[in-house]
Amino acid sequence: MGRAEVFDTAGPQPRHVAIIMDGNGRWATRRGLPRLEGHRRGVETVRQIVEACPDFGIEFLTLYAFSSENWKRSAEEVAGLMGLFRRYFRKEAANLVKRGARVKFIGDRTELAQDIQDMMASLETQSAANEKLTIVIALNYGGRGEITRAARRLAAEVADGSRSLDDVNEASIGAALDAPGIPDPDLVIRTSGEQRISNFLLWQCAYAEFLFVDELWPDFNRDAFARALAVFGARERRFGAVAG
Ligand code: FPP
Repeated sequence: MGRAEVFDTAGPQPRHVAIIMDGNGRWATRRGLPRLEGHRRGVETVRQIVEACPDFGIEFLTLYAFSSENWKRSAEEVAGLMGLFRRYFRKEAANLVKRGARVKFIGDRTELAQDIQDMMASLETQSAANEKLTIVIALNYGGRGEITRAARRLAAEVADGSRSLDDVNEASIGAALDAPGIPDPDLVIRTSGEQRISNFLLWQCAYAEFLFVDELWPDFNRDAFARALAVFGARERRFGAVAG
């Protein structure tokens, strides 16, 4: 399926797509490979999907790379994932930034290794003025943790008198989240057949469409992405209003 088919047959395209990239481990285990090999193949899918976004009119792509619960995995898998992130940030993300992508991170970065934090800060600074595609990478991310950080920041301001209680509202909470200024996702895709939100973008998903697809993340590709966008295009979004 090509680009034209998506544009010709589908309704509106999402501006912001968020993806829970699930199924790397199963992909590897089914082939008798170490789980890390599944994550390596997952990076190849990331590459394809990032490249496809501008063709499909997507302006914002959020990827759930590592949740705050993922530390519970074996030390070997966690170290392997951190190694993949290092390599991705140093090479591919840096190239994307040179080609006009803006990179932002959400999550609690203080628990990550210092060299990874430095790479993240550098990618964000270098790409801040870019406009072609915004890639938001959720790293050591959990939605409840993000909302809690925002609540604490606002509570501290109320406590020190720099903010009034009336100024604690949906707008100020949204602005205190990890990546203010990014529009809410229109579409959340989760691969691998699991139908859970897993603490992803809890605040931002209030009106998102959800799509659960059966492909494991390493098997997801440009065509599967195009099919997902076509399903989105065929849905009617009402944002709480009555059907017209
Ligand atoms: C979930 O599959 C996947 C992850 C926890 C890691 C996702 C990371 C990547 C795709 C690496 C690259 C990402 C970027 C942004 C560079 P799983 O291991 O939970 O699969 P399973 O449910 O089959 O075990």
